Amino acid sequence: MTFEQPMAVGIDRMAWYTPNRFLDLDDLAQARGVDPDKFRIGIGQRRMAVPTLDQDIVAMGANAAEGMLNDIDKRRIGLLIVATESSVDQSKASALFVQDVLGLGGDMRAIEIKEACYGGTAGVQLAADFVRSHPQRTALVIATDIARYGLRTGGEVTQGAGAVAMLIGPNPSIMALEPESVYHSTSTDDFWRPNYATEALAKGKYSEQVYLRLFSDLWQEAGRQGLTRAESLQAMLFHIPFTKMGRKGLRSLSERVPDDVFRRLERRFEESIKHCRDVGNCYTGSLYLGLISLLEHDTTLRAGDRIGLFSYGSGSVGELFFGVLQDGFQRYLDPANSAAMLRTRQRLTMAEYEAIFEQRLVTDGSEQLLDAGDPRAKHRLVRLDAHERYYA
Ligand code: CAA
Repeated sequence: MTFEQPMAVGIDRMAWYTPNRFLDLDDLAQARGVDPDKFRIGIGQRRMAVPTLDQDIVAMGANAAEGMLNDIDKRRIGLLIVATESSVDQSKASALFVQDVLGLGGDMRAIEIKEACYGGTAGVQLAADFVRSHPQRTALVIATDIARYGLRTGGEVTQGAGAVAMLIGPNPSIMALEPESVYHSTSTDDFWRPNYATEALAKGKYSEQVYLRLFSDLWQEAGRQGLTRAESLQAMLFHIPFTKMGRKGLRSLSERVPDDVFRRLERRFEESIKHCRDVGNCYTGSLYLGLISLLEHDTTLRAGDRIGLFSYGSGSVGELFFGVLQDGFQRYLDPANSAAMLRTRQRLTMAEYEAIFEQRLVTDGSEQLLDAGDPRAKHRLVRLDAHERYYA
C-alpha cells in the first residue's frame, strides 16, 4: 500500500512596503531629554517610519502587494485577508478596498481580521487551511499597520508603519508551513485601542510579561508535543514590537536549547531584526518583516532549513509554529528593492514629525484632498468626500 505525501502549503511570495519618511531616534531622544543609548540599546531601535495621511493601511497594503502578483496569480486568489489593528472602517473590510485598488477579480472571499499583532498569523493560518481544502486556489494575506502611541508617551519610541504581503499557496516557493502548531488565547488588558481613540494604550511592562509568559508556555507545550526539535532549528523568529522584546524572548531559550543551537539562533536573530530596527513596529506585519529581513540578510540558510516563529498579539493570543525553506527560495526575495526603499527615505526633523503626527482626516463629511506623500508609492488615499474614501 502507498501513502500520498500531504501537499506542502506555505508562503509562495512575500513583499513589503514602508513609507518614505522616518524619524531618527537619536533626534527623538534629544528632544525628549533621554539618553540615546536607551533607545538604541535599551529598546533596540534606530529609526521609525512616519506615514503621511495618504498612506493608510489600505494604501500601504496595496503598495506591498503591487508588483508581487502577475495576472495569472491575481486570477488564482480565492481568499484575500487583510490583517490590521489600524482599520479604516468599522463595517467594510479593508480587503475590499485593496481588492479594488489591485484590480483583483470578484471570485474570492475578501475579509479583514483583527487580533492585535497576532492578526497576521491568524490570516496566514486561515489562508493555509483554505489552500489545503482548495488546492487549485491561493490566498493573499496582507498584514498592514500604523503603530501610534502619542507624543511624549512611553510608547512613542516604539511607533512605526509598514505592510507585508504574502501569497499562500500549494507547493510554495519560499517556505512550507508545518501543519502542527501550538497556540493559546486568554483575555488580558495589556494593550488596547478603544474605538474613539487614535492612539493605542499600553501597560508596557505588563505586556512584556504576558508576551514572555506566553512564549515560555507555548515553547514548553510544543516540546511536549515533539514540535520544537531544537537541534533541527536553524532560526527562531519573534514578533518584534521593538527589537529588545524579541531579544528577551530569544534569551529565554538560553537554558532550554543546547549551547551550539542557541549561538546559531542568536546569530540569525541579529539578521532578522535589521529591517525592524529601521522601520519600527508594524504590528501584524512585524513577525513577517523579521522573516524577510532574515532571508534577505543571511546568506548561510539553505533549502530544508527549519525556522520557528512566535507570533504574539496583545489581548492576548500567541502561536508558535514552524516552517521549512524551499528549494530556490532566494530567487523570490528582493533585497536590492528593500535596501533602496530604506535608503531613499527622507529624515524628518522633530518639528516635521510632530506636524505629520498631528494631521487628521476630516470626520464631518466634508471633502478633503490629500497630497501624494510618497512619490515612490503607486497607491494612495486620494480623497475623502461624504465620509467615503477614494484610492488610486
Ligand atoms: N542605556 C541602555 N539601556 C537603557 C538606558 C541607557 N541609557 N536607559 C534605560 N535602558 C534600558 C532599561 O534598562 C530597559 O531595559 P530592560 O527592558 O532590559 O529592562 C529598557 O531600556 C527600557 O527602559 P524602561 O524600563 O525605562 O522602559 P520604558 O518605561 O521606557 O518603556 C516600553 C518601554 C514598555 C517598551 C514602552 O516603550 C511601551 O510601552 N511600548 C509600547 C508597548 C509595547 O510595545 N509592548 C511590547 C509587548 S506587547 C506587543 O508585542 C504587541 C505590540 O506589538 C504592541
